[in-house]
Amino acid sequence: EMSDEEREFQDKVDNDIKIEPRDWMPEDYRRTLIRQIGQHAHSEVVGQLPEGNWITRAPTLERKAILLAKVQDEAGHGLYLYSAAETLGVSRDEMIELLHEGKMKYSSIFNYPTLNWADIGAVGWLVDGAAIVNQVALQRTSYGPYARAMVRICKEESFHARQGYDAFMKMAQGSKEQRRMAQDALNRMWFPCLMMFGPSDAESVHGEQSMAWKIKVKSNDELRQQYVDQTIPQIDYLGLDRPDPGIEWNEECEHYDFSMPDWKEFFDVIKGNGPCNRDRMRDRVAAWEDGQWVRDGLLAHARKRAAQKVA
Ligand code: 3HC
Repeated sequence: EMSDEEREFQDKVDNDIKIEPRDWMPEDYRRTLIRQIGQHAHSEVVGQLPEGNWITRAPTLERKAILLAKVQDEAGHGLYLYSAAETLGVSRDEMIELLHEGKMKYSSIFNYPTLNWADIGAVGWLVDGAAIVNQVALQRTSYGPYARAMVRICKEESFHARQGYDAFMKMAQGSKEQRRMAQDALNRMWFPCLMMFGPSDAESVHGEQSMAWKIKVKSNDELRQQYVDQTIPQIDYLGLDRPDPGIEWNEECEHYDFSMPDWKEFFDVIKGNGPCNRDRMRDRVAAWEDGQWVRDGLLAHARKRAAQKVA
């Protein structure tokens, strides 16, 4: 049986009225949002690591400037998302601590290595492309601060995906060796990108409840299909081989058929055993510790300013 509060809450959700920080909400709705928004924020921040490694090695000054701006944008996305999560009564410091202790997740994709410049193009095109499919849907999520953060993030993310496709196209249309690197990057990145949408709907733990609350507006499998449908023509346009022999246009349902990733590998990666999990957390914790003097300095400055105002 629903209480009056719960019924009122669900009515708002059903009528697409946003839930705002001071509104009543079920405790599990709050917890689910903190988990998902927090994980999303962590993904933005950890996602800087595989690309940050390539800023000093970008092939031209222009590519370097673009990559630098993109990686900086990701830090900004992390901040909008941490702020959105903070409206639910959890602090950024707490979330970061949970991440560093391995008690909060971040996207599986960032536990794969970026081996060369073709990989960096592929991250922009395929990884940010997957992130956008998910985030465009989330612009309609029921929690107001999360939905509004998504609007701005989607605009910046579209630029990221386009710069990735542009960098990748240069490789795909370049020398024989560049073309080989592009194909190899696509082949390695394809299935990990499909994993970004989470397990199949049948295996998704939170999917059904999150859809009922419109925290998620499309299911994991729906978003994955949408991503495949939009990406195959882009692969074909580049003249590269499709990364999965199971990909075939299905006339009847007007979607591409495709093979599922290796779910055992997915669950291994999210348990912390992917190729780069340990490196990523070591680098993240080191960055946090190395930045202590900046936080101390800013805090000391803010205190001085506050004291001057009182005096
Ligand atoms: N990576 C890591 N963990 C994942 C995952 C993934 N790709 N997909 C699912 N999981 C985890 C879930 O968190 C959950 O674990 P938990 O109970 O310990 O939290 C478990 O696997 C079961 O999955 P569910 O389907 O039940 O989980 P959700 O309902 O939360 O759905 C999701 C998963 C679709 C990823 C959803 O959380 C979501 O839409 N999140 C917001 C989008 C997001 O996080 N994007 C990050 C992508 S990268 C990015 O944006 C950075 C950009 O700059 C590239």
